[in-house]
Amino acid sequence: MLDQGAPPQSPPTSATPSSGIGARLMRRKPVEHLVQEGGHGEGGSLRRSLGLWQLTMISIGATLGTGIFVVLGEAVPKAGPAVTLSFVIAGLTALFSALSYAELAGTIPVAGSSYSYAYATMGELIAWICGWCLVLEYGVSVAAVAVGWGEYLNELLDGTIGVTIPDALSAPPGDGGIFNLPALIVVLLAMAFLLGGARESARANTIMVAVKIAALVLFCAIGLQGLRSGNYEHFMPLGMAGVSAAGATLFFSYIGFDAASTAGEEAKDPQRDLPRAIMLSLVIVTALYVLVAAVAVGAKPWRQFGDSEAALAEIMKDVTGQTFWGTLLAACAVIAIASVVLTVLYGQTRILFAMARDGLVPKVFARVHPKTGTPRANTVIVSLFCGVLAAAIPLGQLADATSIGTLFAFALVNVAVVVLRRTRPAMRRTFRVPFAPVMPAIGFLLCVWMMASLSAVTWVVFGVWMAVGLVFYFSYGYRRSRMATAEPAVAEQP
Ligand code: ALA
Repeated sequence: MLDQGAPPQSPPTSATPSSGIGARLMRRKPVEHLVQEGGHGEGGSLRRSLGLWQLTMISIGATLGTGIFVVLGEAVPKAGPAVTLSFVIAGLTALFSALSYAELAGTIPVAGSSYSYAYATMGELIAWICGWCLVLEYGVSVAAVAVGWGEYLNELLDGTIGVTIPDALSAPPGDGGIFNLPALIVVLLAMAFLLGGARESARANTIMVAVKIAALVLFCAIGLQGLRSGNYEHFMPLGMAGVSAAGATLFFSYIGFDAASTAGEEAKDPQRDLPRAIMLSLVIVTALYVLVAAVAVGAKPWRQFGDSEAALAEIMKDVTGQTFWGTLLAACAVIAIASVVLTVLYGQTRILFAMARDGLVPKVFARVHPKTGTPRANTVIVSLFCGVLAAAIPLGQLADATSIGTLFAFALVNVAVVVLRRTRPAMRRTFRVPFAPVMPAIGFLLCVWMMASLSAVTWVVFGVWMAVGLVFYFSYGYRRSRMATAEPAVAEQP
C-alpha cells in the first residue's frame, strides 16, 4: 500500500564540522538517516514488494545480456581461445567487489547503491563522483545494451521474414547510419513497463530471465556438437596482454550484478535478501559465461569472430547447418537483452531518486506518483536521455565508457567497506566480507588493474565525463545539498 507518510525531517549532518569548503565536501550522511528516510520521496513512498527471488532475478536480468550475446564476439579477437580466462579474470574482479557490495547492501539497504555507501563513509564529494560514475554504469550502459538489442533484432528479422532494418535506421552516425531506431524503441518499451510499477516490471523480468538462461543452455548443448579440439590450440595467441584487454572489455558483461542494491527501498527484507541476491546472481552468471565462451571458441575458430555482430546465433547456424536454430537464439537474445534494458533503467531511476532526495540533482527525480508508487517523471526523463544516447552513439564506445565508470564505482565500494568497518565497527552487518581489509584491498587493486587495461580514448572520455560532473556539482549540488542547509547533528552512534 502506498505510504503517504511525510519524509523524515531535514537530515542531521554527520559529526563532520560544517564550516569551510574542505569540511563541506567531506560532509557525511549518517547511516541511520539514510535508512530512516528509505522509501520516502517527494509526495509519497516507494512500495516494498520484492523478495529474494525477484531481487536475484533483477540482478541476473541486469547482468546477462549484450556482454555474452554481442561483446563476446568483439573480445575473442583480442584474446583468442583464452577469452575463457578473460571471463574468469573479469569475474574475479566482479566477485571481490560483489562481496563488498553484499556487506554494504545488507548494512545500508537504500536505493542509492554505492552512491549512498560513499555518502555514509567518504563524504559528499566522493559520493557525488560515485553517483556520477553510476550514471555511466547504468544510464550509459542502457544505451549500449539497447544498441546490442538492435543487432539481434536485425538477425531475427533476417531469419524470419528475410528483411533487415537498413543501416540508415539501425546504426548511429559513427557506424554508417543516421539513427538507431530499434535501440530507441527498446528503451521506450522498458519505460512503459517501469511506469506500470516495480512489481509488474519484476514479473516481466523474471520471465525474460528464464528465457535467456534457457537460450544459453541450449547454445551450450548444441555448440558442444561442433567442438573442434584444434580450435583451442594456440590458446593464448596474443599473450597475457590480450587476455587482460579482453577481460577489461568483458567486464561489461558482469555489470549489473549490483542492480539488486538499487532496490533496497522496494525490497521486503532488504538486510537479509540483498546480500544473498547479489552473490547468487554473480555465481550463476559466471558459470554461464565461462561455459558459453568455452563452447563458442571451441565451435568457431577465434580468427573468424571479428566480423560478426550476433556471434552466438551464427555459431548455432553453422553447427546445425539450419537457420532455424540461429533464428531461435536471436529471438531469445532479443528477449534477454530487453530485460537488461528494463532492469538497468530501473536501477538508474532509483539511484537518481536517492540523489535527488539529497538535493544533489533536481527534486523532480524524487517525485513519487501517488497511484503507482513509482518515480514516474524520473522514469520518463531517464528513458528519453538513454533512448537518444542509444540512437546516436556506437556500441563499442558506450560499452568501454560504461566499464571504466563502473570499475571506478566498484573501487570506491571496496574502500567504503573498510572505512565503515573502522568508523562504525558495531553496526549490524547481515553479511561480512571475509578477511577484511585484505579482500576489499584485492578488490580495489583488481578494479584499478582493469581500468588501466582500457584504452587511452576511454580514459579521455572518462576524464571529460568527470570534469562535466564536477562542474555540475559545484554549480548545483554543492549549494543545494540537504546537508548544506541542515542543522549540525548529534554525533553518529558507533
Ligand atoms: N552486463 C550487461 C550486459 O551484458 C550490461 O548486457
